[in-house]
Amino acid sequence: MRNKVTVVGSGNVGATAAHWLASKELADVVLIDIIEGVPQGKGLDLLQAMPIEKRDSFAIGTNDYADTANSDIVIITAGIPRKPGMSRDDLLNTNFKIMSDVVGKVVQYSPNCILIVVSNPLDAMAQAAYKLSGFSRNRVIGMAGILDSARFRAFIAMELKVSVENVTAFVLGGHGDTMVPLPRYSTVAGIPITELLDQATIDRLVQRTRDGGAEIVKYLKTGSAYYAPSAAAVEMVEAILKDKKKIVPCAAYLEGEYGIKGLYVGVPCKLGANGIEKIIEIKLTPDEQAALQKSADSVKELVGVIGV
Ligand code: LAC
Repeated sequence: MRNKVTVVGSGNVGATAAHWLASKELADVVLIDIIEGVPQGKGLDLLQAMPIEKRDSFAIGTNDYADTANSDIVIITAGIPRKPGMSRDDLLNTNFKIMSDVVGKVVQYSPNCILIVVSNPLDAMAQAAYKLSGFSRNRVIGMAGILDSARFRAFIAMELKVSVENVTAFVLGGHGDTMVPLPRYSTVAGIPITELLDQATIDRLVQRTRDGGAEIVKYLKTGSAYYAPSAAAVEMVEAILKDKKKIVPCAAYLEGEYGIKGLYVGVPCKLGANGIEKIIEIKLTPDEQAALQKSADSVKELVGVIGV
């Protein structure tokens, strides 16, 4: 049986996610958007790359949700991106309206799918999708922790001039200015970076990670990052479709874990065929717990505004 993954939104993040999915032969891909022509054109272009890439993934673009029927996973990237000077939170009301429209249609045609939410502000949009879909919490997952930790990993690898493969990193909390990178759980070949880098360097890399998205928005001016965000979403797809039981940081609906209730926040999750199969709770220092709580408070404020 072939897997089917729908990507909602044919902008840079959506189209690049479709590209990674097809080029890794993970699934047949449906790219959907309300804009007429763009998903069809990009879908056809991607399909024509497959003989060169030696992959048998089928790809189509469409404006019709009937084509998305019975998807195993739906990645939602729909929404407007940031412009320079905007925070992710400035997108709240516009993207909530888009999310309300999209989730209803997705659920109608793929009632058994797993949703991966990529639209910003990430944690609030994941919470909106969770409430709008009526799905159980294991089936609505926010992408952000993999992206934020990949940024941290890239910066650590550059600083120490080591392979990115040697570097693991840990980032908790919301996908925003209050995210919580955890240096003592970030390692190079198993060695915590706190033993390899001085505090000032770690602080600089942590800050660059927090500002990672904004740094790219400033360069691009008319959009935000897309290679790393889409690659992160596709890593989640792969873990689910291959039932890998992989532990990665994701935005999950917490029901008391880490002392947080009724809120999407980034935490380590085990991803497998059922989506989030376990939320991993680690012991935090009082400072880390306070930083996580502060991050959760800023998510709470946003979900309060849109009432989800
Ligand atoms: C970023 C946006 C996509 O972090 O949230 O680049």
